[in-house]
Amino acid sequence: MDWGLQNRLSNIIKPQDNRALMLAVDHGYFLGPTEKLENPKKVIAPLLKYCDSLMVTRGIQRTSVPATTNTPMVLRVSGGSSIIGEDLSQEDITVSIQDAIRLNASALAMSIFVGSKYEYQTVVNLGKLVSEAEQYGIPVLAVTAVGKELGKDERYLSLACRIAAEQGAHIVKTYYCENFEKVVQSCPVPIIVAGGKKIPERDALQLTYNSIKGGAVGVDMGRNIWQSEHPVEMIKAVRSIVHGNANVDSAYDLYKKLVSEGPKKKNKSKKSTQSESKKPTQSKSNKAKTPETKPNPTKK
Ligand code: 5RP
Repeated sequence: MDWGLQNRLSNIIKPQDNRALMLAVDHGYFLGPTEKLENPKKVIAPLLKYCDSLMVTRGIQRTSVPATTNTPMVLRVSGGSSIIGEDLSQEDITVSIQDAIRLNASALAMSIFVGSKYEYQTVVNLGKLVSEAEQYGIPVLAVTAVGKELGKDERYLSLACRIAAEQGAHIVKTYYCENFEKVVQSCPVPIIVAGGKKIPERDALQLTYNSIKGGAVGVDMGRNIWQSEHPVEMIKAVRSIVHGNANVDSAYDLYKKLVSEGPKKKNKSKKSTQSESKKPTQSKSNKAKTPETKPNPTKK
């Protein structure tokens, strides 16, 4: 493997423990202003130092990520369809390799839609992207997209992950499922697990733990971090599993402890009113009412 490619990969999957914590904020590329990601700059700023890499589109990288950051960028380079369009699987490559280099991308990310109408187009695009990116020592992360018609079970995900690896993807992002170990075993490149729709914090920590136990290098998590009432506390708890080998109980205890400490610190310095100090610290989002792909077209 070329030095540059190896070096970029090691920025994403940390060689110390072979683990990765990627923060996904690329949802707007087909969902528009996704709930709680309406203002990406505000969302990204406090979280950037706690992730190993950021999965982002070029528009959001340029407008909402400080160019002074040391956090590696995993640049989404596919798109073309929206949640209200005809077929989400109709994606193409939308970013040139020159622009990816200008953006100092540590990896390029694109989706493949195995089993969909546009399977051929997206799989061929993956192969072409790998050929192009490898010329510059840039790794490619393939996202195995799932949808209403596409499965989310071991059989489907094994098929999709293996096809991505066969095309030369250097990392494959997929979903956790029953018998996840089998998906990992039949994929010769590292697998990273997507968080999926918002679920209660403890469940998202359990998903993180199970994914790593099943052989994933880590998580590429979005909504379960920034749709939490306490994103910084949540990413720290996720991190404690990914890089600290914490179990679910201790990660959740850490989350609760950080949440309970947060407002107290604020109150101390602000000498807040009684009503402020009575504010509940329990996450509202535990009620998990956000549908997986619900756009928020009314908010910009
Ligand atoms: C969408 C993506 C997202 O980055 C991915 O789904 C991860 O985010 P989340 O944890 O919110 O699912 O690739 O195609």
